[in-house]
Amino acid sequence: MLKVGLLGAGRIGQVHAANIARHPGSQLAAVADVNGAAAEALAAGHGAAVRSAEAILADESINAVLIATSTDTHSDLIEAAAAAGKAVLCEKPVDLSLARARACLAKVAESGVPVMIGFNRRFDPNFAALKAASDAGEIGRAELLSVTSFDPAPPPVSYVRVSGGLFRDMMIHDFDMANFIMGTLPVSVMAVGSALVDPDIGAAGDVDTAVVTLLYADGRIAVIRNSRRAAYGYDQRLELLGSEGLLQAENVLEHTVVKSTAAGVSGARPEHFFLERYRSAYVAEWGAFVEAVRAGTPQPVTLRDGIDALALAEAATESARTGKPVVVTG
Ligand SMILES: NC(=O)c1ccc[n+]([C@@H]2O[C@H](COP(=O)([O-])OP(=O)(O)OC[C@H]3O[C@@H](n4cnc5c(N)ncnc54)[C@H](O)[C@@H]3O)[C@@H](O)[C@H]2O)c1
Repeated sequence: MLKVGLLGAGRIGQVHAANIARHPGSQLAAVADVNGAAAEALAAGHGAAVRSAEAILADESINAVLIATSTDTHSDLIEAAAAAGKAVLCEKPVDLSLARARACLAKVAESGVPVMIGFNRRFDPNFAALKAASDAGEIGRAELLSVTSFDPAPPPVSYVRVSGGLFRDMMIHDFDMANFIMGTLPVSVMAVGSALVDPDIGAAGDVDTAVVTLLYADGRIAVIRNSRRAAYGYDQRLELLGSEGLLQAENVLEHTVVKSTAAGVSGARPEHFFLERYRSAYVAEWGAFVEAVRAGTPQPVTLRDGIDALALAEAATESARTGKPVVVTG
């Protein structure tokens, strides 16, 4: 039984707490949050203790920590947890700074503890099936990937200001998806972005609508489209064109009823947002982490993967600023 300490009792920490508690191979032992009330409420719901992060890391009976705190704490907490010998599942992104994330990797590599980064979309059954079909050669040579990722509504500007910007905060998932599907890093990144949804996002120095083109050494291409607003819900789709066909992973809808009348044909909206759309992916992600720790096998998503996605986010931020393609150094 893996005894787990959860650091961070916010939106995503609550999802992870439930999955840790429900998994037959893990137990939610303790919760830490600088907001004591948030930690109390979450721990009480799962019969866990409330402790400080330091106390959790010092407790030898705790085998693993799940880091779901604010992004600017991730590298420090990964390093502290690794030094304490805990297996780590840390939410994305690894850090707001690529240089800091690389320093974290160097430090953690010495410790040899398993560290997984929470790119949950790899565990979405639809995207995983598309990846498996591509790897099996079912569409020949995969040549053009399109990733569509539109949020239902923008976050508050207060969130945007500390988020690291759309490319690090939101598109980071799509960069990881491109790395996952294409199996390698691109050689160059070209980005354009605008603040079309909320002028205050633009005033805060960020964009809310962006398109990125990734070019691979062998000429393959990926296109990522992000918007912080989609009036019809959370739009999450993949399309992969190959030499012998096309793979498409469509949206998951709130229900499957299609209404056909004289007025036309209509159906349900996509599931509202990430908590709904990726519910099963978070469960599968935690299961994969527990299994890898138990079996002593490599984690399915590594700290290196986290840094690769962050490298693309940093390149895209630079490209959007300068209007020029940025060469990726990995
Ligand atoms: N994989 C995903 O789908 C996904 C979804 C949402 C958020 N995230 C990531 O998860 C992280 C948390 O996001 P959220 O939306 O849950 O934010 P949140 O603000 O709701 O929760 C973060 C919590 O961490 C606590 N905290 C901050 N610093 C701390 C520290 N040093 N020690 C203990 N607790 C601390 C805060 O008090 C807060 O309760 C972010 O890095 C975000 O990018 C990932």
